[in-house]
Amino acid sequence: MNPLRPVILAAAGSPRMKQAVTKVPVTAGVVRRFVAGETRAELGPVVRQLLDSGRSVSIDFLGEYTTERAMADAAVAEYVSLIDDLAALNDRDTPIPRVEVSVKLSALGQSLGPDGPAIATENLHKLCAKAVESRVWVTVDAEDHTTTEETLENVRQLRAEFPWLAVAVQTYLRASEGRLRELAADGARIRLCKGAYQEPETVAYQHRAEVDAAYLRCLDVLMRGQGYPMIASHDPALIEAALTMAVENGRGRGDVEFQMLFGIRDAEQRRLAGEGHAMRVYVPYGGQWYGYLMRRLAERPANLGFFLRALADR
Ligand code: FDA
Repeated sequence: MNPLRPVILAAAGSPRMKQAVTKVPVTAGVVRRFVAGETRAELGPVVRQLLDSGRSVSIDFLGEYTTERAMADAAVAEYVSLIDDLAALNDRDTPIPRVEVSVKLSALGQSLGPDGPAIATENLHKLCAKAVESRVWVTVDAEDHTTTEETLENVRQLRAEFPWLAVAVQTYLRASEGRLRELAADGARIRLCKGAYQEPETVAYQHRAEVDAAYLRCLDVLMRGQGYPMIASHDPALIEAALTMAVENGRGRGDVEFQMLFGIRDAEQRRLAGEGHAMRVYVPYGGQWYGYLMRRLAERPANLGFFLRALADR
């Protein structure tokens, strides 16, 4: 693991650091590289350009760890408007919609005390009902490990009514492989990612080689299962392995999907889409970009250099 990762992820939780960093306007190069804009108006052209290039999208309205009910309600209202806007851009005849949204349950109220989980479930249900109407599907992001069981339980319950509802699973968590066996047998759409939070050794692998090996084991479970694997990684070795495993398991181009983050490995995204693979780009927008940006900086020390230069230039 990169030695700066724990430091940057610790800073992600510091309100003082947040205050200093968010003074940089969203247009500052490094923020804009990873975030499509602050508003739906700014997001629109970015989405259209990605769709025109043959890629699919999953749109995230930035926000997490909501501490007030009103903020959770505002997030739901924004998602409802977002889904309405996106419906107009969607392709109605593909088996899996090319336009979907990604959502964090902590933005929908999961962390609002004892009632939080119920509030988040109710809010996610509203978004799923809206999604059915608009055919803009939903994937639930994976957050820190204290939320994982609750999030998976929430998704399990809602999948009875909305079987297309997808969820992200992090391979750095030791428990993920076992959890995936159940989800894969159940035919779920699963986004497999390495994991972006700072987690204790008791629950998560700490070394890159262990996380990568776990990724391959989890992917094997998904490829053999009944569900729809979504390979959310920029790692060339894992992408190669996924392409081979898909062939070995008799999965055609429509049975597996690759996913990458907006602003990362754009040429590789285009290459995979150009070869006819399903390639979805996770596109965040909104004013609450701090936590998201810090996780991207933690993944790659070179990003931190760009960011510090942007701060120094002000
Ligand atoms: P790795 O970090 O090994 O990177 C491989 C290569 O990709 C690097 O060598 C570099 O070239 C490039 N790269 C990776 N990160 C970069 C960056 N920030 N800037 C520039 N280049 C970079 N996590 C989570 O905890 N919950 C979630 O719900 C999600 N959701 C999600 C959706 C999608 C579509 C993706 C792609 C990723 C996530 N993640 C996530 C993040 C994920 O867990 C992980 O932190 C990052 O994807 C980085 O891991 P890689 O697999 O890309 O490998």
